[in-house]
Amino acid sequence: MAITVNTIQKYKNNNEKFSVLTAYDYSTAKYIDEAGIDIILIGDSLAMTALGYETTHAIGIDEMKIFTKAVAKGVKNALVVTDMPFMSYHTDISTAIKNCGEMIKNGANAVKIEGFSEYILEAVKRLTQSGIPVMGHLGFTPQFLNTLGGYKIQGKTHDAAEEILKQAKELEKAGAFSIVLEMVPQESAKYITENLTIPTISCGAGRYCDAQVLVCDDVFGKFSDFTPKFARKYGDMKSLIFECAKKYNDDVKSGKFPSDAEVF
Ligand code: KIV
Repeated sequence: MAITVNTIQKYKNNNEKFSVLTAYDYSTAKYIDEAGIDIILIGDSLAMTALGYETTHAIGIDEMKIFTKAVAKGVKNALVVTDMPFMSYHTDISTAIKNCGEMIKNGANAVKIEGFSEYILEAVKRLTQSGIPVMGHLGFTPQFLNTLGGYKIQGKTHDAAEEILKQAKELEKAGAFSIVLEMVPQESAKYITENLTIPTISCGAGRYCDAQVLVCDDVFGKFSDFTPKFARKYGDMKSLIFECAKKYNDDVKSGKFPSDAEVF
């Protein structure tokens, strides 16, 4: 880790944009770290992209530990942040500290927790005091899919944007070092960003946030079950994997693989 929470705060202070991208395995983490990504997030989106679940709810602390360890091993420069999975930090503060601490022991430099309540504020405060930096997550929070009633844009009205800003300010006061804003209209996210001292990270919240985050499988064009409107595809890994597997399959079946150079 060369990038720390202090570097992230300096970016905000200097009005410098930074990048956040998810990774779930060692080699992807290594390559995106070498590409200069500032924060590598082991997002619980891996429940869908890597494990094939329909939502993020099914993934647990043991799986997140394995993916965190793999990613952390590949990273030399970026700040490594792990998503705390559903119900791993909600029951009581000591369980939250224990579970978040496990992620730090497995190589993360910080954790991300979703939502807002008096309890979450207390958890952020106690985690930070325990040496665990916390990234908040407001707006659309996938772990609250059932209470929010679906994938809905949040903070659409002036009052709703004010409410998110109020929550963000409380999280900032409790010690959060940054806040993801997911599926928030660009103008609301701008207003929130301008009124915080810690950086905001846009996940479909427009260009005025201090940083952008995307899911690596969307960026690489690998995950094809669905792609959110705000994601940009920079490659076509799905086709690449298909082509490679197809050529290999053909070569094995036609006897072209292995060649003389590939045998002992
Ligand atoms: O799970 C995830 O990947 C996330 C980001 C997209 C913010 O929470």
